[in-house]
Amino acid sequence: MADKPEKPPKRLKDANTLGGRMRRYASTTVSLGGFAAKAAVNRALGREMDMAKSASELRAALGGLKGPVMKVAQLLATVPDLLPPEFAEELATLQSSAPPMGWPFVRRRMAAELGPDWLTRFTRFDQEASAAASLGQVHRAVTKDGAEVACKLQYPDMASAVEADLGQLDLAFAIFRRAEKAIDAEDMKGEIAARLREELDYALEARHIALYRQILADKPEISVPDVIAKLSTQRLLTMGWLEGKRLLDFKGDTQDRRNAIAANMFTAWWLPFVRFGAIHGDPHLGNYTVRDDLGINLLDYGCIRTFSPSFVGGVIGLYRGLLANDRAAQVAAYETWGFKKLSNELIDTLNIWARFIYAPLLDDRVRTIADGVSPAQYGRKEAFEVHSRLKTLGPVKPPREFVFMDRAAIGLGAVFLHLGAELNFYRLFNDAMGDFSEAALAKRQRKVFAAAGVSLPA
Ligand SMILES: Nc1ncnc2c1ncn2[C@@H]1O[C@H](COP(=O)(O)OP(=O)(O)O)[C@@H](O)[C@H]1O
Ligand SMILES: [Mg+2]
Repeated sequence: MADKPEKPPKRLKDANTLGGRMRRYASTTVSLGGFAAKAAVNRALGREMDMAKSASELRAALGGLKGPVMKVAQLLATVPDLLPPEFAEELATLQSSAPPMGWPFVRRRMAAELGPDWLTRFTRFDQEASAAASLGQVHRAVTKDGAEVACKLQYPDMASAVEADLGQLDLAFAIFRRAEKAIDAEDMKGEIAARLREELDYALEARHIALYRQILADKPEISVPDVIAKLSTQRLLTMGWLEGKRLLDFKGDTQDRRNAIAANMFTAWWLPFVRFGAIHGDPHLGNYTVRDDLGINLLDYGCIRTFSPSFVGGVIGLYRGLLANDRAAQVAAYETWGFKKLSNELIDTLNIWARFIYAPLLDDRVRTIADGVSPAQYGRKEAFEVHSRLKTLGPVKPPREFVFMDRAAIGLGAVFLHLGAELNFYRLFNDAMGDFSEAALAKRQRKVFAAAGVSLPA
């Protein structure tokens, strides 16, 4: 679409829209804080909340919620058993999408990022956003060189909006800390805050895309967009347009085709982890699409978590320890992650969670990820069990790396349940891993991280 002749900028209107959006963030944040306080008080007093009523209150509070606050709420929902299951489920169904910026606003934002003649660098630039993003929106365009691209453009002032949310996150954790006897969530809070702040930095996201292009270079079944550096900045990410369909459109497809999609999703998530110590921490349904040939377009590199070779070594060590029923190897893995005072009961309790997460990978046969479990309930029962045991054994301080690794594992499990996938997950995992050694992983990491300009994980 061509640009329309320039009218005087409607500053007042835009300011009102933005102001309105900010007010809405503020009021939803307050109600979320109030809600957290109420839940914590009830929990501390051992009172039962009226779940149905509270869940609908929560929905009302969050119904109009968009943007970064939404992200915080969704992240809170992934901390196992922090919120009652009804709420966690409610939050998981909400999609984050911010109110769109209008064309005059987009034009000014683009000019601020690429200069006043920005539009001459495209032969087509859709005035209307093709998709919402949590901190901005995506426009479809064609560059002067003829490349079909997606321009992810950030709203102004998102840094302060995210900082305001992080203040709320502090408050919510402070309230829960008083009632919570099982888990010391201090590190988890730090982890969530770090990832949310990183999401503001589209230049870092571009480097993470470069990292994934190398990691998945010999996996044609996974598409990683390319970044158009000369049309990208800290707050504008211009990348190749990837065409695909939503995963849920394939729910009614044949078993073979659903299995093929699931196997490709498995590769996209677990191969980067076991071979390079990197994971996409947000397996949300909006963050990938399915190609016509059932390959995966992997989108959104705003939440990439990288891990040291020794952390990945611990994950593989625990896997092998569970496979061989080798208690000493299991304990060694928990110790590499800094778990202290490991009593037998505590090991048994941690193993409940580990056996749940690893279950399909430990079983050398074709199977579903879990029988008779709904995608939204996946992992909730086990989290509840572990949490109630930890109340007498705890508190434990889970390593911060677990936040997004577990989130990826649970999210991907939910995808496999949606697809009704029947696969030999043991084979897929072992094929992805190859001959694992920490030294080999460290060597691969040094090579690809340097080439992508990403610093090595501590
Ligand atoms: N390279 C791309 N090609 C096509 N569509 C894209 C591309 N990147 C993002 N999108 C669309 O834009 C939406 C938001 O982008 P995303 O990177 O997920 O933003 P956010 O980090 O805010 O979640 C995606 O859900 C998808 O619909
Ligand atoms: Mg996204």
